[in-house]
Amino acid sequence: MTSVQVCGTCGAERSLLEPDVECACGGLFDVRLDQPVEDGRSLQRLFAGRKESGAVCDRSGVWRYRELVLPGVEHQVVSHPEGNTPLLQRDGVSRWTGLDHLLLKHEGHNPTGSFKDRGMTVGVTQARRLAATALVCASTGNTSASLAAYGAQAGLPVLVVVPAGKVALGKLGQSLAYGARTVMVRGDFDACLRLVRDASTRLGAYLLNSVNPFRIQGQKTIMFELLEQLGWEAPDWVVVPAGNLGNTAAFGMALVEAHRLGLTDRVPRLAAVQAEGASPFAAGFAEGFTRRLRVAAETVATAIRIGDPASWDRAVRSIRDTDGVVTAVTDAEILEAKAVVDGTGVGCEPASAAAVAGARKLRQLGVIAPAARVVAVLTGHILKDPEILVEYHRGAGASRPLQNPPIEIEPTLAELERVLRIG
Ligand code: F0G
Repeated sequence: MTSVQVCGTCGAERSLLEPDVECACGGLFDVRLDQPVEDGRSLQRLFAGRKESGAVCDRSGVWRYRELVLPGVEHQVVSHPEGNTPLLQRDGVSRWTGLDHLLLKHEGHNPTGSFKDRGMTVGVTQARRLAATALVCASTGNTSASLAAYGAQAGLPVLVVVPAGKVALGKLGQSLAYGARTVMVRGDFDACLRLVRDASTRLGAYLLNSVNPFRIQGQKTIMFELLEQLGWEAPDWVVVPAGNLGNTAAFGMALVEAHRLGLTDRVPRLAAVQAEGASPFAAGFAEGFTRRLRVAAETVATAIRIGDPASWDRAVRSIRDTDGVVTAVTDAEILEAKAVVDGTGVGCEPASAAAVAGARKLRQLGVIAPAARVVAVLTGHILKDPEILVEYHRGAGASRPLQNPPIEIEPTLAELERVLRIG
């Protein structure tokens, strides 16, 4: 057997060097690698040993697992490096969720502030292998920030297509600063993705949305690194925010693979969490995934403001393979979860907080037991969306239990003392 791309819908196979990300049948490809020659224990030792090395590939939290990502490309990788993100425990977040053993895997610690860098290092490396001359993506903001940075590093022109007025300030700023040609479309993310899927071939640009299987390969390393940080002891649950469903797809594949390779002795359950106003996948789960659903999406968590998720079929497989669940949380729950995470000094962007809000909801529903070992993945950095932060803490309006408004005073001791007394 050799490594190939396999269509998840019709089973067609083709070489790793075919550039189109879509199968003739309309399905999406997955990368199927040759099984590594090492057994589980040997792989664990191999990965651990690389932490001592100074080589670029070994220092990256993605390429350290290259046997399971994309072997044999060490001489070509475009790496920052990325990954090596912390696994945090915070009493305040545990208390709020009612989960005694909750950990936060903080992907906001990646170079451009989101998990996207894990997939992008692999996707842009693959673009280089294919001798691509331009790169393109649609985005709610983080993919575009990441592609802009990795494209700049690779010396390739980047075109990013985003929904006008619906991209958080930090992300838009990054895309401009890293030098991507940034197109703001009067339409939502789903319209942007349709546009770039239709146009990429005609434009001669390599498509780097998560429909690209090499992106998914990189995102799997969030799970490999998490399992390694836990001493290869699988947790009971992994909770992830879900929009276009690339992560949901990647995590399920990685967890099943880690078990199959003998890296772990069981498969954790996956919980995907959507924002209520953008929750076709949660609705699909509720009706047993009998059909693919689409909605017109609306949520404060602009990263996951997606109504027609591209990785639907792959994500359904992930939920089924991990005995997983899908749920949805309201914008108010997302903002409260975010204020709790922020208030512990950790901080994350709104979409990431959906995972924490979802963990609490699933505990309240009795799906997750209070004593379960749970990992929530924080997908993006607190500074990605500064506007929502300031609005939450400064703004008037409905229930904001953790609001911490700034206080303006004259420069006198008396006023400062008055303010401190109020506190
Ligand atoms: N969290 C953040 C911070 C994101 O940026 C995204 C997706 C998700 C969660 C959802 O992940 O799509 O794999 O289900 N952002 C994409 C983008 C769509 O364009 O940046 P998913």
